[in-house]
Amino acid sequence: MERYRELVQLIGQLDYAYYTLAQPTISDHEYDRLYRELVELEEAFPEQRDPDSPTQRVGGKPLEGFDSVPHALPMMSLDNTYSRDELQAFLKRVEKWLPDQVLEWTVEPKIDGVAISLRYESGLFVRGLTRGDGTHGDDITQNLRTLRRIPSKLRIGGGSAPEVLEVRGEVFMSRAGFLRLNQQRSARGEDPFANPRNATAGSLKMLDPREVAQRPLDIMLYGLGECRGLGQAQPSSQLRLLEILDSLGLPVSPHHWACHGSSAIFDALGSLEALRPELDYETDGAVIKLNQLDLREQVGHTAKAPRWAIAYKFAAEQAQTRLKRITVQVGRTGALTPVAELEPVHVSGTMVSRATLHNAEEIRRKDIRQGDQVIIEKAGEIIPAVVRVVPEARSADAAIFQFPTSCPECKTPAQKVVSTGALGVGWRCPNPDCPAQVRGRLEHWCSRGAMDIEGGGSVLIEQLVARGLVLDVADLYRLTQVELESLERMGEKSARNFLAGLEKSKSQDLWRLLFGLGILHVGAGVAKTICRHVRDMQALMSYGLPELVSMPEVGGVIAESVVRWLEDTRNRQLIHRLESAGLTMCSSLFIEADNPSDRHPLAGTTWVLTGTLPTLTRQQACERIESIGAKVVGSVSQKTNYVLAGEAAGSKLTKAQDLGIEVLDEAAFLALLASKVGL
Ligand code: IVH
Repeated sequence: MERYRELVQLIGQLDYAYYTLAQPTISDHEYDRLYRELVELEEAFPEQRDPDSPTQRVGGKPLEGFDSVPHALPMMSLDNTYSRDELQAFLKRVEKWLPDQVLEWTVEPKIDGVAISLRYESGLFVRGLTRGDGTHGDDITQNLRTLRRIPSKLRIGGGSAPEVLEVRGEVFMSRAGFLRLNQQRSARGEDPFANPRNATAGSLKMLDPREVAQRPLDIMLYGLGECRGLGQAQPSSQLRLLEILDSLGLPVSPHHWACHGSSAIFDALGSLEALRPELDYETDGAVIKLNQLDLREQVGHTAKAPRWAIAYKFAAEQAQTRLKRITVQVGRTGALTPVAELEPVHVSGTMVSRATLHNAEEIRRKDIRQGDQVIIEKAGEIIPAVVRVVPEARSADAAIFQFPTSCPECKTPAQKVVSTGALGVGWRCPNPDCPAQVRGRLEHWCSRGAMDIEGGGSVLIEQLVARGLVLDVADLYRLTQVELESLERMGEKSARNFLAGLEKSKSQDLWRLLFGLGILHVGAGVAKTICRHVRDMQALMSYGLPELVSMPEVGGVIAESVVRWLEDTRNRQLIHRLESAGLTMCSSLFIEADNPSDRHPLAGTTWVLTGTLPTLTRQQACERIESIGAKVVGSVSQKTNYVLAGEAAGSKLTKAQDLGIEVLDEAAFLALLASKVGL
């Protein structure tokens, strides 16, 4: 039973990494294999079962920072299988439990996201919880409120709203949204998320709802929790439930199948699998559910999962190919990342010729050698991964990869970095003039999230650096039409457009410039915070650690990174050169705090937003409020000064009215800001 104890401990650790940290350490398939081995051991030796075994709970602990709230009804998990035979056996089992009944089934996509429960009271969205451990979840209401598709008020026609309606579903990220988010992250020098599910889990556990609002999260609902006062609308089947949810304005999957008998179920699974590449979100399988709700009650559930449903998971598509060689990429911050260069192979609808190897540690652990036959996998993961090598196919000349001791681009000796995150030990190139880093910095400067310079993509940047025309971002502003036209694939018009883009960027706001400089730890959010506290670059350059640390959201690590960057003579010269090139370097976000005559009379007030405004987006409204030195918070309390309410305003509005807080609509809000300016 040593293996049993080992598995209990290992799966516990993997669950923590997956559910709590949102940083899975192995692939879903490897996890499922281990989990299955554990279940088999428990079935063979039931008397030895550990009450703390991961099979006895759903998984996950509430996160620090969010309130842990009990679920009115437990949120269960699902049994799952990869095998058609097991699915048949499941169907047979339920038929046996319900003799003399005509069973109806539904087949729905199993959305690969994060399970949540939404609670509506009298039609108003009051609380959103994660599944947590199944009995208690984290209160992530404020984060969920940022999802546009979650209505703050149910769409009730003529009738009255149900007293309580808890709906359950999945928050997820579309593939397109995920790719965009990862591009932004790489541009900022942040680690990309491994897959949309991790990105979703990571987003929902952020403590600042304003940041969550920037994440492309979506939701679909498929189940019920506590439910009181639905009256006539009480559903009798899953299909009816989906219709009701839809009519209440809650998003449900447009794809689901109603089936009688197993062959219809297998047909539906085939249809779903065929549809899979077209769906803009990840599905890792299908959920097969008994349609009739009264029959579900008769069948009941185990401690962990209902007996009336099962998840059928699609096999992750794997392929075998040759790993030609391992190369090392140099990021803009100098990080060295090993990449597997593969003999191109078709997996999950795309041609794969590269896969990430994360770090030297992973290559050693999996004993991956150049020339090996490897199994690669592309399941939920958008970035393909090397699962393992095929040892029996290893040829005598397969070569152990020596991680370079110097930068592959500029040959400077590499430096070891020990990160506290999931990445462990890594290596970086310490040479700031390394051409790969120079290219990375220039691309970042031009990127949409930073200075937003049209035409400044990798093809152009590569040529500019290779020709020695540009060494840093200030050099971009000295480029001439003639120089640009001499480059490949650069006509007169594109050269002119690029110069126009550069000209336009000169008046970009200071936060974009600060972010564009690529200072370690300074993402767009931090850059904005800093720029609320400084009038211009001049002022920032005179700041030291104490001034920076005193800014909210700027911790010691960030402050130190900024100060170090600003102390470097070369960086100071760069700033001066940018200034001479005509860049404005003024912060429009700056709020004058010390001079009372400049201070907006509403500075320091606290605001709450609720509902949808007629013209301003939520973000624009927040920015307006923050620009006068006031702050926006998530919930109404005695300390709230104003509530800005739009259409379909929720419980916050009621609370504000109860507390006698001034409530404004958009027109009154704009008028108030305008009338008090300059008072
Ligand atoms: S029904 C009692 N339907 O998959 C639990 N779950 O692996 C009923 N999931 O915990 C769940 N899509 O988070 C259901 N269409 C769907 C689903 C779905 C995704 C998730 C859910 C569940 C997990 C089980």
